[in-house]
Amino acid sequence: MTVIDTPTITTETTTGWTQACRLDFLIPGRGVAVLLKGGRQAALFLLADGTLAAVGNIDPIGRAAVMSRGIIGDRGGVPVVASPLLKQAFSLVDGRCLDDESQSLPVHAVQLDGGVVSVSNEPVTS
Ligand code: FES
Repeated sequence: MTVIDTPTITTETTTGWTQACRLDFLIPGRGVAVLLKGGRQAALFLLADGTLAAVGNIDPIGRAAVMSRGIIGDRGGVPVVASPLLKQAFSLVDGRCLDDESQSLPVHAVQLDGGVVSVSNEPVTS
């Protein structure tokens, strides 16, 4: 197996992985929802600069599985996804909510192997 050196926001973890889709299926700036082995859901994003990032798909404030439909943006140099429900922005680097310090999204690791993107089954942060 060859791991291609593509930027991802998180580092690798020792948890298992779920294959999500081929890299060329992803549209920069748009998310896809990934059902992970073990039952968690992730929202996977390809950023405009080619970076891959994944966070939990459940909006902790709106309490719905909608983060994959969120809006990708930038807050002072931090890549963020804004909830499609109430528009709170969450960092794609560490998951924290930039509009409500009490809230955060779990961050999942992403890897690219042979053109296929995989997401860690367990978050690397919570
Ligand atoms: S799924 Fe209900 S607002 Fe997007």
